Amino acid sequence: MLTYKADLSSPDDREALKTWVDDNFSDLDILFNDAGIQRWINLQNLKHDWSWYHQELAVNLEAQLHLTFLFLPQITAQPNGAFINISSGLVINNGAWVPVYTASKNGVHGFTQALRLQLQDTATKVFEILPPAVNTNLGGAGEHNYGNDLDEFADAVIQQLQDDLPEITFASSWDQLRLIKQPTKRRPRRPGICLRITRPLRTPNRCQPRRDADLKFGRRVVTIARRYLKGSRSADQGPW
Ligand SMILES: NC(=O)c1ccc[n+]([C@@H]2O[C@H](COP(=O)([O-])OP(=O)(O)OC[C@H]3O[C@@H](n4cnc5c(N)ncnc54)[C@H](OP(=O)(O)O)[C@@H]3O)[C@@H](O)[C@H]2O)c1
Repeated sequence: MLTYKADLSSPDDREALKTWVDDNFSDLDILFNDAGIQRWINLQNLKHDWSWYHQELAVNLEAQLHLTFLFLPQITAQPNGAFINISSGLVINNGAWVPVYTASKNGVHGFTQALRLQLQDTATKVFEILPPAVNTNLGGAGEHNYGNDLDEFADAVIQQLQDDLPEITFASSWDQLRLIKQPTKRRPRRPGICLRITRPLRTPNRCQPRRDADLKFGRRVVTIARRYLKGSRSADQGPW
């Protein structure tokens, strides 16, 4: 395995990475856009200059778009090329506590759908992974320890890639995504009144939501929101 270190918030570093890949992997056929950061931001207590906030957009959104642009000719020239972009379950339910993160991941979601449409007549596949909370160091050590088990999540992702699912997710985000993708069951009776009745799709065993993790996640969000509203979690604490 070869590795190359780059600060993907920097356009120059992204271009240098492309040059390095050209020199070492001219037959590259998959780009996996994984890098991301997450910052809690209190919009009523902004403490940094724009460059600090922009960093999150640069890593999460701009890097995915720029790298896709850089590698498009190379990957679409391959017989089995693919782009894999990581957005977030917060695309389905926006995360008020991480507003710039939510904006960046919605940008990734929209761009990935557009990319998939534009490449639909080519041999290149476009996948989007929308993880629920997963126990990693995202946002700082311990900030996601309530999340799903990383190994279980990774196994589900690999399985869904093998199954060619364009939108890949897990646990609570699996349920939520499939729920909003359900077609409307009852048509509006008259213009202006629309009753939307949905039910979860039958999910394969490997993707069954883990209710315990979902409940833990829900409780954690409620606790943090309460503390935050009461002021005990100040803007000076945590990874703002
Ligand atoms: N964990 C979750 O609950 C969750 C949920 C939804 C979506 N996601 C998404 O999943 C992806 C992976 O995150 P994770 O959960 O694995 O978190 P993580 O453990 O913090 O990993 C983030 C990765 O992004 C890299 N990175 C951050 N800033 C970078 C920069 N400027 N240049 C290059 N690389 C940079 C980090 O590299 P270094 O280690 O070198 O810093 C690290 O490899 C992210 O896009 C995240 O938004 C995660």
